[in-house]
Amino acid sequence: MIRLDSVTKRYPNGQLAVNGLSLEVADGETCILIGPSGCGKTTTLKMINRLIEPTSGRIFLDDEDVTRVDPIRLRRRMGYVIQQVGLFPHETIEANIATVPRLLGWDRARVRARVGELLELVGLDAEYRRRYPAQLSGGQRQRVGVARALAADPPVLLMDEPFGAIDPVTRSRLQDEFLRLQGEVHKTVVFVTHDVEEAIKLGTRIAILEVGGVLQQYDTPAEVLARPANRMVADFVGADRALKRLKVTPIPLDGVTVPPTIAPSATLEAARAVMARENTDWLAVVDGDGVLRGEITEDDADGTGIVSDHARRVEAWISVDDSLEAALAATLLTESGRVAVIDGDRFLGVLTPTTIHRALRNSVDATPEPASLETP
Ligand SMILES: Nc1ncnc2c1ncn2[C@@H]1O[C@H](COP(=O)(O)OP(=O)(O)OP(=O)(O)O)[C@@H](O)[C@H]1O
Ligand SMILES: [Mg+2]
Repeated sequence: MIRLDSVTKRYPNGQLAVNGLSLEVADGETCILIGPSGCGKTTTLKMINRLIEPTSGRIFLDDEDVTRVDPIRLRRRMGYVIQQVGLFPHETIEANIATVPRLLGWDRARVRARVGELLELVGLDAEYRRRYPAQLSGGQRQRVGVARALAADPPVLLMDEPFGAIDPVTRSRLQDEFLRLQGEVHKTVVFVTHDVEEAIKLGTRIAILEVGGVLQQYDTPAEVLARPANRMVADFVGADRALKRLKVTPIPLDGVTVPPTIAPSATLEAARAVMARENTDWLAVVDGDGVLRGEITEDDADGTGIVSDHARRVEAWISVDDSLEAALAATLLTESGRVAVIDGDRFLGVLTPTTIHRALRNSVDATPEPASLETP
């Protein structure tokens, strides 16, 4: 959808802001640009919508070379959320959101309807229409900024630190809303941030830039965290990148251990026999359809009766779609140190801190030493 081909920007004062940048953003993906202040993130965004002309290189939108097309027409295909929001202070929220539709000559009724739709989409009450930007909180203004960028339903969204100056709680809510919104509208997004956590949470892929505008790595969050390309990237994502990886690592199916099981209708005697044979002090109680009905321990299985009358609820379970972080968090809350993994109704097995550790390790190669450990 968007392709940058060796794009370079040298400002007239000689400042090299972006240096030979090549990257591709597929349709519906969120590409995160991240890196230290001054590494050329804003410059890159502004070259994509031609607010800044590249010194060399080419930019393609849907295979069309847009370095030559009319910039005004180009910008109508791209919503832009600028750094610091930049709402027009003397215009109402309604007028702010309606900026582009009005430029496009939409009639009043259509503009009104669209503003209503957008306010709802970004989670703002209709009464905000008549207010002015100064009468909104910072988080609300940022939502208006997003609504304004979405107004004419452009296929591309360029967002420059849209949640920048916002407290962590509101920021996290806006991020969740962004993910929900993106699930509905499927824009192709280029999103600038300083915040590694935000990049990991929102990005399909992350581009890490170093000062001087040189791309260090362009990969999925999981890959960047597992295999940082060099020390700059390793340092930038943080010494706790292993913990961050838990969030983006799916449940490893081959890491799930299948414990010995027993049918709910079996006798306690049979359960004890299985425990003895398998050398275990508990069994998963699984019915004929593969559904987990509970678990039974050695103590529960004392005496006579049938398993279903003596089984207990499993302490913790997660869905196979959850992250490894959810799995580890669940095991840490249990007495037994294990969490059951469920696919729909079907019981797949259990994870423990040890198997989670193994799964994480198995998906990492040797990674470079962080620069901070280097001796001078
Ligand atoms: N108009 C300009 N003229 C000269 N140099 C510029 C101009 N605009 C930006 N620069 C320089 O180009 C480099 C990249 O700037 P840019 O705004 O793209 O950085 P950024 O990554 O967005 O930084 P931040 O995270 O602080 O927003 C910086 O060194 C900046 O000083
Ligand atoms: Mg910037």
